Amino acid sequence: MNSIKKIVNEELYEWMKEIRRAIHRHPEVAYKEEKTAELISNALNELGIKHKTGIARTGVVGKLTAGQNVPTIALRADMDALPVAEETNLPFSSQVQGAMHACGHDGHIAIVLGAAAILSKNPPEGNVVFIFQPAEETEGGAGPMIEQGVLNGVDMIFGGHIETHHLAGEIGLKPGVHTAYTDAFEIRVTGKGGHAARPHETIDAVLIAAQLVMDLQIIISRNIDPLHPAVITVGYIKAGTVNNVIAERAVLKGTIRTTDELIRLQVIDRIKKITTSISSLHDADIQFILKPGYPPVINEERAYGFAKHVSEELLGKENTILIPFPGLGGEDFAYYLQETPGCFVRFGGGIKGRENAPSHSPRFDFDEEALRVGAAYFSELVRYAVKKLRTTE
Ligand code: NI
Repeated sequence: MNSIKKIVNEELYEWMKEIRRAIHRHPEVAYKEEKTAELISNALNELGIKHKTGIARTGVVGKLTAGQNVPTIALRADMDALPVAEETNLPFSSQVQGAMHACGHDGHIAIVLGAAAILSKNPPEGNVVFIFQPAEETEGGAGPMIEQGVLNGVDMIFGGHIETHHLAGEIGLKPGVHTAYTDAFEIRVTGKGGHAARPHETIDAVLIAAQLVMDLQIIISRNIDPLHPAVITVGYIKAGTVNNVIAERAVLKGTIRTTDELIRLQVIDRIKKITTSISSLHDADIQFILKPGYPPVINEERAYGFAKHVSEELLGKENTILIPFPGLGGEDFAYYLQETPGCFVRFGGGIKGRENAPSHSPRFDFDEEALRVGAAYFSELVRYAVKKLRTTE
């Protein structure tokens, strides 16, 4: 770890921790990241990095320019917090009721700013774009950022996510498909309400909802090739008002996770068939509404090779974790990768010897060593990618 401590000295490490903690104290949810954007802008001013604010509402983009006809590498951090009430008891806990940086995006900002500090002091022979993006957790701020042209001229993009399943000092990465399609759905059942003692006069929306929940799982166990990952989760059911009335309406909400487009379409098609057949079986009206989510993060082979090389040089092979399977989480970094080759990794943030709460938990926290590792990794990766791309262009 000596080389990391050389790249990120104590002073810079303290600066990054301060930034992370300041953002952690004042979490702002999707598209409300105004103070966060101001803090980022102030930090970039401190570093003398030219930047623009107000991109896709609250986004910030900084640029280090080396010239024309040189490679351009982008680093991306997301900025938004979650509507979660914090329960960590940290001295820098959220001061905003009902909002918390429970997904480590406070850390991602500090990491990219740390890399910006290192690279601005000792600039690479290529351009670097620092992307701070709003609304990763909701409708995907990446899309509007791309529409605003943040990828113009970018040859390669890199990102990462702090993750407590890996320990601090580790980086996890995987070539190809890394995260899942994250479609959401809603099913609205309309039956016929009536007296609980006379079910034959009614169409019971609760019974239909229960049948739907069970039958949806048949898709996973009987219709989908078991060698392809697929999950259907119904996370929400609402029906009825009292014990002695048969409910007229039920609403189910859930998510579909897949990693392959054809499997995704197959799941959607089966859900439609099940809702149609249960509807005719019960003479109920059933509507299936699909809300398409993010596509999968697909790491490009060459960019993955650069990321793996830099991680192994910096952390050693033993701390470079080659993740064997995709995760079924979602990440809107996928949109950048549809436009530009790049690689997304996991920054280990788990604290050794204790139970680490997962992201989105009100008790989520991470080892701040991840900030140091992340900034060293990004800055070295930019230098390495610039060098490799210069020799091949
Ligand atoms: Ni996140």
